[in-house]
Amino acid sequence: MIAEPEAGETLTPVPLAERSIVLVGLMGAGKTTVGRRLAKRLDLPFRDADAEIEEAAGETIPEIFERHGEAAFRTGERRVIARLLGSEPHILATGGGAYMDPVTRANIAARGISIWLKADLDVLMKRIGKRGDRPLLQTGDPRATMKRLMDQRYPVYAQADITIESLEGPHDTVVEEILEKLKDYCPDLAGRDNAGQKND
Ligand code: S3P
Repeated sequence: MIAEPEAGETLTPVPLAERSIVLVGLMGAGKTTVGRRLAKRLDLPFRDADAEIEEAAGETIPEIFERHGEAAFRTGERRVIARLLGSEPHILATGGGAYMDPVTRANIAARGISIWLKADLDVLMKRIGKRGDRPLLQTGDPRATMKRLMDQRYPVYAQADITIESLEGPHDTVVEEILEKLKDYCPDLAGRDNAGQKND
């Protein structure tokens, strides 16, 4: 379905300053919006794994789920993320299930700095309300489904290098918090912050 090279073995690690910043967390946590803004601040390219999967497949995510099933989507997702992490440092927004895959987790650990955007159920439900096309939430009770995903996934997301509480409020606050935590975690990367130099 997706014309990507096999991911093969996990990627070889690179030094922290040469890594991509990888945003993980549930649907609605703000990974794409925050990722774009962070990329601007750090003057790094932005990549959205879901968009890259759609481009590689020539199908939308709902179409991939419907025509090929979730397992095929996960295989494509694993390959696309391995390819992206093997490329130049960038800011990567991943789909909510990506970090649950052990190979993807290992690749992120080798080539990325992982940041979990942690949000509570009310915030997630409010945010996803704006987009009704997520295949996993096409259930009779999306809120109960989201709660179940939180229970399954939060212990795994907790393995991320940095956790940011993505509470209700402006995404820019989250961006500032990431940059603050990045100062301790990887001063070289945080040092790319161009706040004040641009007026857009
Ligand atoms: C999924 C999240 C979606 C997308 C797919 C599966 C998940 O991405 O990858 O529908 O398993 O949580 P977002 O988190 O960007 O909505």
